Amino acid sequence: MGLLLLLAGVLLPGCWAVRGPSTVWGYVGGSLSVKCTYRAGHEMKPKFWCYPGTLYTCAAYIIITSSLQPAVQRDRFSIRDNRTRQEFTVTMEGLAEGDAGTYVCGVRMRAFKADERHFVKVIVAPAPTLSPAPALPPSIPRPPATGTDAPRGSPGSFRYFPVLAGLQVLALLAMSGAVLWASLRG
Ligand SMILES: *[C@@H]1O[C@H](CO)[C@@H](O)[C@H](O)[C@H]1NC(C)=O
Repeated sequence: MGLLLLLAGVLLPGCWAVRGPSTVWGYVGGSLSVKCTYRAGHEMKPKFWCYPGTLYTCAAYIIITSSLQPAVQRDRFSIRDNRTRQEFTVTMEGLAEGDAGTYVCGVRMRAFKADERHFVKVIVAPAPTLSPAPALPPSIPRPPATGTDAPRGSPGSFRYFPVLAGLQVLALLAMSGAVLWASLRG
């Protein structure tokens, strides 16, 4: 296995020169970002995001930077090369189901030299359905109406739970305050 990797490393130079996530995902209608890093010395080379073609080619470049333009935006896609960190970020916005698939982030080399690249699988999940927001009424408990106290154990007593919780929080705050005060004095 190790020998195989070594062989592959020798035969396919640059295979691991660009690194990044193997899978990224986003929601339909949302966006996702992919960070890919490259080796020192390739700062000024174009960085690209493409659909893989055969062998070391791209079927089509989706977006590519140039030495003069380290940040490029093209409709739903953008790519931003941080040359200090030797890292470029690809962003896909307005995701559609059709965007799912395999992509390549890479560094474009000179002619006749294989691009350095990394495969990234993009998964597009259905947009999360907004479940009805959990009802969180402000629930300022009304003071008990005089003379008509709800009997203990009735559902009405649940109304005072927030008050009790609030008191507990206050007690906790007071205690931690005391501890802090004591430790500052000590
Ligand atoms: C590159 O990354 C460094 C460190 O995070 C940051 O300070 C700098 O602003 C970034 N440059 C660009 C062009 O984004």
